[in-house]
Amino acid sequence: MKKVFITGANQGIGFETAKQLAELGYYVYLGSRNKTNGVEPKKKLNDLGFNNVEFVEIDVTNANSIKLATQTLEAKAQQLDVLINNAGIAGEQPQNISTGDINNLRKIFETNFFGAVQTTQQFMGLLKKSDEPRIINISSPLGSLAVQSVSENPNHRIYDAYSCSKTALNAFTVLLSKEFQNTNFKIISVEPGYTATNLNQYKGTQTTEQAAKVIVKFTTIANVQTGNFFDRNGDELAW
Ligand SMILES: NC(=O)c1ccc[n+]([C@@H]2O[C@H](COP(=O)([O-])OP(=O)(O)OC[C@H]3O[C@@H](n4cnc5c(N)ncnc54)[C@H](OP(=O)(O)O)[C@@H]3O)[C@@H](O)[C@H]2O)c1
Repeated sequence: MKKVFITGANQGIGFETAKQLAELGYYVYLGSRNKTNGVEPKKKLNDLGFNNVEFVEIDVTNANSIKLATQTLEAKAQQLDVLINNAGIAGEQPQNISTGDINNLRKIFETNFFGAVQTTQQFMGLLKKSDEPRIINISSPLGSLAVQSVSENPNHRIYDAYSCSKTALNAFTVLLSKEFQNTNFKIISVEPGYTATNLNQYKGTQTTEQAAKVIVKFTTIANVQTGNFFDRNGDELAW
């Protein structure tokens, strides 16, 4: 049974991804930054008949919490096959880059970039024990420099800090995939599509079921090209 760890899986796209992967027979470690929020979604999946789901506490902005989560998994599992760095925040808006609050920018980076990097670094040992390790960083078209440089959409400006954090996350995908290019690691960025979740006050135009399907596809397909950025249609997105 393949084992997957998903950060920020107590709600939104992460929760639905946990559900769909449990349905497919993956053993799911459902990450939540606090116990109160994590136990209920785990129970919800157990009540649906999925006993292959466990809650693991992890706050990706807290080094000690990441370390404890790693130790918890090391005690339970021989290996980790898939790490999905899904935890993310949008931060306070507006965040136009010329005027946005620098502390807001830092806070967003703490979760969306440093959180993903530090979590990955800690879980690398368990991932290396898998025959087919995979790391999926949940990104956004707003993180694409190609998209940013042609965007005329004023609504994008209010998310400039978030956009920068996803660009940095994408750089992490590229550089990590280069470091592990001659190994069996698959390391990609995936953009699940504009989805109604807490992150955007439920303004997104697609459902979490649709978004999770995209992530599940890239978790399960054999021939994924490492070091790439994929959109909700499965097409490559320009960095
Ligand atoms: N929704 C979209 O349209 C969209 C589009 C493209 C990409 N994405 C990306 O998809 C991912 C999931 O977002 P979502 O839309 O599903 O939003 P969401 O419903 O707000 O879920 C975000 C999850 O991240 C968790 N989280 C936040 N800070 C954390 C921390 N420090 N440590 C651990 N977990 C933390 C949240 O926990 P709490 O419940 O405790 O807050 C929550 O479980 C994010 O990376 C987001 O950037 C979303």
